[in-house]
Amino acid sequence: MELTPREITAELDKHIVGQHNAKRSVAVAVRNRWRRQRVEEPMRKEISPKNIMMIGPTGVGKTEIARRLATLTGAPFIKVEATKYTEVGYYGRDVESMIRELVENALGIIRSSERERVRQEAVQRAEDRLVDMLLSPSKEVDLRDNETSTDDYDAVSGDRTVAFLKHQRNREKIREMLREGLMDGRTVTFTTATKAVPMVMTNLPGMDSMEKDLQETLEMIAPVSKTKRMMTVKEARDYIIEQECDMLINKEKTQAAAIELAENLGIIFIDEIDKIVASEKQHGADVSRQGVQRDLLPIVEGTTVQTKYGYVKTDHVLFIAAGAFHRSKPSELMPELQGRFPIRVELTGLNKEDFVRILTEPDGSLTKQYQALMQTEDVELVFEDDGIDMLAEYAFKVNQQTQNIGARRLYTIMEHLLEELSFNAPDNPKSKVVIDAEYVRSRIEDVSKDEDLSKFIL
Ligand SMILES: Nc1ncnc2c1ncn2[C@@H]1O[C@H](COP(=O)(O)OP(=O)(O)OP(=O)(O)O)[C@@H](O)[C@H]1O
Ligand SMILES: [Mg+2]
Repeated sequence: MELTPREITAELDKHIVGQHNAKRSVAVAVRNRWRRQRVEEPMRKEISPKNIMMIGPTGVGKTEIARRLATLTGAPFIKVEATKYTEVGYYGRDVESMIRELVENALGIIRSSERERVRQEAVQRAEDRLVDMLLSPSKEVDLRDNETSTDDYDAVSGDRTVAFLKHQRNREKIREMLREGLMDGRTVTFTTATKAVPMVMTNLPGMDSMEKDLQETLEMIAPVSKTKRMMTVKEARDYIIEQECDMLINKEKTQAAAIELAENLGIIFIDEIDKIVASEKQHGADVSRQGVQRDLLPIVEGTTVQTKYGYVKTDHVLFIAAGAFHRSKPSELMPELQGRFPIRVELTGLNKEDFVRILTEPDGSLTKQYQALMQTEDVELVFEDDGIDMLAEYAFKVNQQTQNIGARRLYTIMEHLLEELSFNAPDNPKSKVVIDAEYVRSRIEDVSKDEDLSKFIL
């Protein structure tokens, strides 16, 4: 979260070619969340996020930017498709469920940092328990029972103190062996308490929240089934550490922290926003789309949504919307909704030079992916510059001849190019395949020339 805009764009540059304006806008927006957190209170309340609308043709990196951004910012981040939602009362998910999803995401972040915090203590406790189990394997040690059995009498002297000291010595000995890994192979038996909760899947329209409540109630009343489990010390250790972590973490505090995090730093990326534009003639699906926009409005404007962890205010959640808008225009969205996305960034169509870079530059570029795949068959795949150039040219040409699907075209062309090689690779280990202009031309030329054929194949 402390990344500067420059650092964010640099990270994005590793995966996405070009589109600097879009990268800059999202980087600034993310940084602004951090800035706001440091502003003093009366002013902080006043600062609301400037939501962004990314507009650009299909396959030029809109979703990809969101995806990469998600892994980059430590903030709660979810990506949703506008088309998944329907107006309350229609079949599908209601819009408020995106806030619930955001809180779940925040909870995950808080939980893992809490786990980190209590881990050391949990490890300690787990060790204590393992020592107990190893000391008295016959006795069933309940998972939640940390007491040691120190009230046995010493058989020889009949003295409690002697027995206690002996017991302590044994404990320390076992603890040492445990630490050195000498006990890893031993098995321990313990009882675990699990609840058999049936999954609720109603899928009734507008019942998203009900479903959660129902699930929760079931969890509460479900019978606890105790199972005896046998594990090696090695396996049991992780298992018990997990359990101790859970016990050490305060559930209520975690949930409250998650809500606060989601409210202040949450980012929701709404993809395919152009698909909820209703056309002029209102009928059927269009009415519902208009409804989704209407439902979306209060959430983007700032409202309070009930989640199972408590109420969440959406005033300061950042929304980034994206859409191709090739059939519709942003101006066809409801005026109020348009107003809530004041920052517009356009992503540009990709040309041949971009394709060359996309094929070679990103960390996980297509050429590197195929090289890695072929490597597993012991086949060396070499891409010559002129081969890449030719690939990019065909991709660009086919995009113009048929439909422009942006960088996605590279995938189809590449797949077609290497289809034969992929099939034969296992039969030719230790071979080297050089992809040069001639290799590309001989495999793509015929298909690309025939417009009808390329519509189906490329
Ligand atoms: N500028 C780019 N740099 C690198 N890869 C790209 C770029 N643009 C697109 N791609 C690749 O092309 C594929 C499709 O891109 P993406 O999903 O981002 O398209 P989109 O802009 O969201 O399109 P749509 O409007 O159809 O949803 C992705 O696998 C992505 O990696
Ligand atoms: Mg997309």
